[in-house]
Amino acid sequence: MVDKGTVCVTGAAGFIGSWLIMRLLQQGYTVRATVRDPTNMKKVKHLLDLPDAEKRLTLWKADLVDEGSFDEPIHGCEGVFHAATPMDFESKDPENEVIKPTIDGMLNVLRSCLRAKTVRRVVFTSSAGTVAIQESRQSIYDENCWSDVDFCRAKKMTGWMYFVSKTLAERAAWDFAEKNNIDFISIIPTLVNGPFIMPTMPPSMLTALALITRNEPHYSILNPVQFVHLDDLCNAHIFLFENPEANGRYICSSHDVTLTELGRMLKKRYPEFNVPTEFGDKEVFDIVSFSSKKLTDLGFSYKYSLEDMFDGAIQSCREKGLLPSPEANPVIPAPVENGSLTITA
Ligand SMILES: NC(=O)c1ccc[n+]([C@@H]2O[C@H](COP(=O)([O-])OP(=O)(O)OC[C@H]3O[C@@H](n4cnc5c(N)ncnc54)[C@H](OP(=O)(O)O)[C@@H]3O)[C@@H](O)[C@H]2O)c1
Repeated sequence: MVDKGTVCVTGAAGFIGSWLIMRLLQQGYTVRATVRDPTNMKKVKHLLDLPDAEKRLTLWKADLVDEGSFDEPIHGCEGVFHAATPMDFESKDPENEVIKPTIDGMLNVLRSCLRAKTVRRVVFTSSAGTVAIQESRQSIYDENCWSDVDFCRAKKMTGWMYFVSKTLAERAAWDFAEKNNIDFISIIPTLVNGPFIMPTMPPSMLTALALITRNEPHYSILNPVQFVHLDDLCNAHIFLFENPEANGRYICSSHDVTLTELGRMLKKRYPEFNVPTEFGDKEVFDIVSFSSKKLTDLGFSYKYSLEDMFDGAIQSCREKGLLPSPEANPVIPAPVENGSLTITA
């Protein structure tokens, strides 16, 4: 196998980080994975069990809030994939627990890259939450769009602190990268879905599977929604890292659906979950699209369908005991009467 060099992945144990590491190892990279507690086997065993991990994966302790803690893992790396982020939508102190660590952590990682002097490119996993959270809805979004932080703070919709944190972190990163001449790329996934290797329920699955689990506060994020398959997203990370022409922001999103379309698809494909298909008068029936034209024009192509994403996600959840198996005859709550949908933007 070709030796592709050494890269660092932050947020390595998470939903995206762990799958990305699996793909990087498969493609010949040596990976330094940062986690907050490398001794916590419950959180890192799935990384150590990856094929080739024994030969080409090392775990490093680093925390977004500890300035300098990324110095060691990043020193000597050619590339850095920055995926770590606090994802707590229920935080009681969102400014200090979500927003500040995300921005400070972004800058801590970039400062470590600068000090290392070996890093050729940084790929940051941004979010659709940096693009489209605005008072008035557009039918199509591209890389020129930015979320309105004041609107998020005023409206306090589900996940507002996450949208603010990612928007301010990405803006701060562009500023820092420009001033310090860092080759910085941001990749902007919409809702990521698909099979996964982390052992617990990934935070974004709470949203992706909300119609199945009747997690009503998250319906607003699906009204309407855009998805990308986890494997497509991780392949896009590597594609952008390797492509010399890549530059700037890249939306990574393959499917746009309304809440009803999603409900109908899920109800038909997984009748055992008794998924709701009517959501009252707050539902948005127009598709909102995230354009991946910039990414596909560069030569990237998506491989997976919406059905692939849900098949993979549900299978992973069942294998890990996070959703009941069909034979278990699950008791699913009654459908929502009249919809109790809240609108994000
Ligand atoms: N999943 C999606 O649908 C989606 C969509 C758009 C963008 N994204 C972006 O993708 C990235 C990865 O998200 P994910 O879905 O993989 O979430 P995840 O499973 O929660 O992974 C995030 C990781 O960040 C780490 N982390 C949290 N706070 C930290 C801190 N203070 N210091 C160091 N590490 C910290 C956690 O590491 P520990 O293991 O140490 O706890 C966790 O494993 C994030 O930047 C997110 O904004 C995700």
